[in-house]
Amino acid sequence: MTSLFTSPVAVSHWWLKEFLAPGMVAVDATAGNGYDTALLAERVGPSGRVFAFDIQQEALEETKKRLVKLGLADRVRLIAAGHERLLEYIQSPINAMVFNLGYRPRGDKTIITRPETTIEALKAGMTLLVPNGLIVMTVYVGHPGGAEEWTSLERFIAGLPTEEWRVVKLRFINRPEHAPFNIGLQKIG
Ligand SMILES: C[S@@+](CC[C@H](N)C(=O)[O-])C[C@H]1O[C@@H](n2cnc3c(N)ncnc32)[C@H](O)[C@@H]1O
Repeated sequence: MTSLFTSPVAVSHWWLKEFLAPGMVAVDATAGNGYDTALLAERVGPSGRVFAFDIQQEALEETKKRLVKLGLADRVRLIAAGHERLLEYIQSPINAMVFNLGYRPRGDKTIITRPETTIEALKAGMTLLVPNGLIVMTVYVGHPGGAEEWTSLERFIAGLPTEEWRVVKLRFINRPEHAPFNIGLQKIG
């Protein structure tokens, strides 16, 4: 039997797996160790395209290693730039985008995603997103800077027009208040 809700990353993968199909275009805003990029690449298939951003060279190398090992590197463009610069690199429609906020596991814990740049990247992704397109986020509030990032992000996404966006939050209500959680945004078609 399938075990659901094991972690917020598992939940985000579940949503993405449900949504993505061969030939789609997807963006990983935070490549990190490449787990999300690999999932996107696997789901969009050889006819699809994935763009993955990170500001750390080490993260991109780790992601590349993972993709090569899985035979998925051909459909992925790794971009050594902040996700807030998304529109400099992508101008065509996208089907989905994933953010995994905070710091890179096993990496430098002081390099974290920040409210202004996260929201700028989110806004850029929202403009490129096709009708019914999906944005999935894993949000961490337990590290320094995490709660502030969520406060800004929540202010922005909770104010999105109901007739244009479905915005959901999925959290574990029997875990501590500072446990990570998921956000999903779907553009109404
Ligand atoms: C939680 S990790 C991502 C984990 C990753 N998705 C995975 O599957 O392993 C967050 C990543 O965001 C990156 N990051 C921080 N600020 C960024 C920015 N402005 N643009 C792109 N990436 C950024 C960090 O370098 C870090 O690698």
